[in-house]
Amino acid sequence: MTDSITIDRPDDWHLHVRDGEMLERVVPFTASRFGRALIMPNLNPPVRNVTQALKYRSQILDSVPSNTTFDPKMSLYLTDSTTVADVVEASQSEHIAGFKLYPAGATTNSDSGVTKILGVMPILEAMSEHGVVLQVHGEVTDKHVDIFDREAVFIDQILLPLSREIPQLKIVLEHITTREGVDFVQSAGPQIAGTITPQHLLYNRNEIFRGGIRPHAFCLPVLKREAHRQALMEAATQGNPSFFLGTDSAPHIRGAKQSECGCAGIFSANAAIEIYAEIFASVDKLHMLEGFSSHHGADFYDVKRNTETITLINQMHTLPTKIDGANKNADDDLIPLMAGHQLSWMLQL
Ligand code: NCD
Ligand code: ZN
Repeated sequence: MTDSITIDRPDDWHLHVRDGEMLERVVPFTASRFGRALIMPNLNPPVRNVTQALKYRSQILDSVPSNTTFDPKMSLYLTDSTTVADVVEASQSEHIAGFKLYPAGATTNSDSGVTKILGVMPILEAMSEHGVVLQVHGEVTDKHVDIFDREAVFIDQILLPLSREIPQLKIVLEHITTREGVDFVQSAGPQIAGTITPQHLLYNRNEIFRGGIRPHAFCLPVLKREAHRQALMEAATQGNPSFFLGTDSAPHIRGAKQSECGCAGIFSANAAIEIYAEIFASVDKLHMLEGFSSHHGADFYDVKRNTETITLINQMHTLPTKIDGANKNADDDLIPLMAGHQLSWMLQL
């Protein structure tokens, strides 16, 4: 049995950190594990342009522990009113790594999202021309489409036509959850990639209903059938450079999750790389962790691979059952992924 593994410092290419007290609570977890993270713009109001993103970025940097180097890359929120000038400005900043397409109403804070893809075609053309990446939340929002089919339908109706119409556009299909998502990425060229979260590798949809209803296992896109989880496992662990790490760690306080209409999102930043290591080790693929976590994303985004390393040691430990907020009120807790579970891979800090 391996005792430790040292890999180039990983990057998290899909992360929510919110703002205010929550930002201060969650950023140190990511900054002590990852070299970079792609910060999602779904604040209320959303982060739409370079000026807003740079302000947000400096708030994030203020929460990074002083002995840590962490480089937040920002994603801008694509709306019906994004302009070509916004795209050009974004292409000129090293801190901006793309625009995020949320179909309006698809997920948490997506009300300002794009209402019709045809309406933003000129913006997407400009992104292609200026080499700006499009990050996509790939689900249709039509309430007549079964929630478990929304990713597959999005790929068919929106993504395939879009990738044919603008073939040079660099696209990341975020948090893929299905065999169809894997197939789409695999059969596309190197300009198209997919990120995979820890929860979609760990669980199938039974987890949401295990012995009752489990609000902390609810995220969007929702967990799918076992066959889809297996397709994701293969995609993540086979060394294909088109798949890379994006946790989609999304903090929501316990009071918002354990409610009559609990919100979507799973927090995993407190042990993200350790959990991925556990997942890769469970199928004897620990040697594939570094490509997925530290190389494929950097190469896709055309940034230098991190030069520092991290070491994970094989030592059993128990993950916390909750992460307190400033006022230690139970409603304000975060319940992390695998709360209270044992993990055999531990980060050497
Ligand atoms: C995310 C959030 O909470 O911001 N929620 C989620 O379930 N993944 C939004 C998103 O990435 O869809
Ligand atoms: Zn997300």
